[in-house]
Amino acid sequence: MSDLRFDDKVVIITGAGNGLGKSHALEFAKRGAKVVVNDLGGSAFGDGADAAPAQVVVDEIKAAGGEAVANFDSVEDGDKIVQTAMDTFGRIDVVVNNAGILRDKSFHKMTDDDWDLIYRVHVKGSYKVAHAAWPHMREQQYGRIINTASAAGIYGNFGQANYSMAKLGLHGLTQTLAIEGQKRNIFVNSIAPIAASRLTETVMPPDILKNLKPEYVSPLVSYLCHESSTETGGLFEVGCGWFAKLRWERTNGLGLPVDNISAESISEGWDAVVDFSENTTHPAGTQEAMMGPMSNLQNK
Ligand SMILES: NC(=O)c1ccc[n+]([C@@H]2O[C@H](COP(=O)([O-])OP(=O)(O)OC[C@H]3O[C@@H](n4cnc5c(N)ncnc54)[C@H](O)[C@@H]3O)[C@@H](O)[C@H]2O)c1
Repeated sequence: MSDLRFDDKVVIITGAGNGLGKSHALEFAKRGAKVVVNDLGGSAFGDGADAAPAQVVVDEIKAAGGEAVANFDSVEDGDKIVQTAMDTFGRIDVVVNNAGILRDKSFHKMTDDDWDLIYRVHVKGSYKVAHAAWPHMREQQYGRIINTASAAGIYGNFGQANYSMAKLGLHGLTQTLAIEGQKRNIFVNSIAPIAASRLTETVMPPDILKNLKPEYVSPLVSYLCHESSTETGGLFEVGCGWFAKLRWERTNGLGLPVDNISAESISEGWDAVVDFSENTTHPAGTQEAMMGPMSNLQNK
């Protein structure tokens, strides 16, 4: 198979000064892309700012013969990041929404500030970058966007109510952008990665972390963003060299006659509501999902 190249393509990676974003930036640069290396350079908690992390990655890409420019704005000003791409390289083809912070606290200790900041960086930041890139992608009939979700959003995780909300919210964004972008060759996917970084170094032991290299995640991102990939609307778990797609699964359900709907009749039929052992379905869109309730229309 020929190499998956990104020559003449312009790629924005947010939060590319460290961890996964840095690895993504180096991966795209190695494949010929012109890379906008965005990073605010604050702490993992979301405090402060520093130009060094983004600049170091740009210097590394240039030293290896690649092309890159640094951008130090917060993703909350995502339009400025896209402007850097347009001013420097004249186009934008790929957005990898990766920037992130944590404000982990059990729910009863969580403040409005913890909630809002996580929303602003992860959800609003991803929206702002994608929204500013969208008209250019529509116009050129080509675009690829990756939103970075998390297992915490898919499955829940103690102490991460704010982060879980944001991370699964991002996959909701992915699914609708995939629908709206389809006709214009704009494909949008989510990844839920696992990798050693400053966000995970305090929660996992060193011997596990050494096998969780960010470099094991980035090839999936470059594959999904290549013009040859038609995958869109997907959610992928990725880490340690393992790659898997997730989907919704629905039970066959309980259909009650409409004149017999009550808490008691639901209680009596509860096994059918929660039984995944047979006749499950995997609705892939709202139309297919509607088939569930619609199948009970004649149940009078
Ligand atoms: N590491 C994992 O196992 C893991 C698991 C699930 C999800 N994620 C997600 O992957 C992404 C990357 O995380 P990481 O583990 O590489 O962490 P990291 O801390 O190493 O990198 C995140 C980068 O984002 C930057 N950043 C933070 N706020 C920003 C802002 N407002 N504007 C621009 N840049 C900003 C930081 O400066 C940092 O360089 C995050 O979205 C994280 O939630 C990581």
